[in-house]
Amino acid sequence: MKTQQLTSSPEDIRAAGEILRSGGLVAIPTETVYGLAANALDGKAVSAIFAAKGRPQDNPLIVHISRLEQLEDIVSEIPEDALSLAAQYWPGPLTIVMPKGKAIPNEVSCGLETVGVRMPSHPVARAIIDAAGVPLAAPSANLSGSPSPTTAAHVTDDMDGRIHAVLDGGECAVGLESTVVSVCGDVPQLLRPGAVTPEMIEAACGSVSINHAVLSELAEGEQAASPGMKYKHYAPTARVIILRGSREAYIDYCNAHAEDGAYALCFEGDGAELKMPYIEYGREDDLLSQAHGLFAALRQLSDAGAKVAYARCCTPEGVGLAVYNRLIRSAGFDVRDI
Ligand code: TXA
Ligand code: MG
Repeated sequence: MKTQQLTSSPEDIRAAGEILRSGGLVAIPTETVYGLAANALDGKAVSAIFAAKGRPQDNPLIVHISRLEQLEDIVSEIPEDALSLAAQYWPGPLTIVMPKGKAIPNEVSCGLETVGVRMPSHPVARAIIDAAGVPLAAPSANLSGSPSPTTAAHVTDDMDGRIHAVLDGGECAVGLESTVVSVCGDVPQLLRPGAVTPEMIEAACGSVSINHAVLSELAEGEQAASPGMKYKHYAPTARVIILRGSREAYIDYCNAHAEDGAYALCFEGDGAELKMPYIEYGREDDLLSQAHGLFAALRQLSDAGAKVAYARCCTPEGVGLAVYNRLIRSAGFDVRDI
């Protein structure tokens, strides 16, 4: 199939809406990462997403809406905490897992009784949902296992020839996927960290619990609260090793391991002291810049043909919790104290 390249012009947004309404797949920009969208109410269209990405069949999709009224048939109940969260953080980088409604096909929920819903803030994403006239199921628009795309060019690298169109809306502002929180239990539970932090959830709902898979590897055979947590993720072709310690210790460690094919995955300004090629993923004192840069940096490592990457560890607080969550998965949980 030939993948059409669309822009964010009104005509192209209308064209994207048309493709989606007729059961096709379009990669769309959002404020978090690019999503691979299909009509969420059309099981057949949704199945095609799994085929295009090579996505495991048991990993459910997020449904994207542009207006609150669209929740009606998507969820069977809107828990109090969902109302509080939506009032504070929608539109924005937050997915709320609620009891699923009758309009959601099994292809979206993958056998679960719940559905994750998000109202993105990106104006082009919202215009595309409006143009399609239906809610859109959209996982990140990468091949399963590789880093999520934060530019249309990343999408094309993974998906050219596999989907109907890519709509270029520029670089994604946040750069990491949305926060996923379930409001189906007594206390809101964080399943995947993102730009909406645990502190922000607590401020809206009065409490929050953090699922242990956010910071650690699931035990073998353990049931995942969020199926996506159990897969190897965000991995470049290089083996990533995270080094936790001071800046000096990091530089010393890297310089003692400057073997062929080794790269440093570091913060801005570290490179001058390193005796190996390096790729920066943000500024040390700016967690948002790290979130913004991480996935592009992981893709650059693959493009450079890196064999091993020594990553500087980030601070796992606030938005940094999301950066750390992705970084440890890209490294297969290989974190070393130096
Ligand atoms: O920012 C984002 O969320 C992006 C953009 C496109 O909106 N989408 C995205 O989708 O990251 P995806 O499919 O790559 O990640 C969705 C995550 C997966 O880990 C999945 O297991 C989890 O959300 N998830 C989806 N529905 C769920 C549910 N009903 N219960 C628990 N986890 C769910
Ligand atoms: Mg994904």
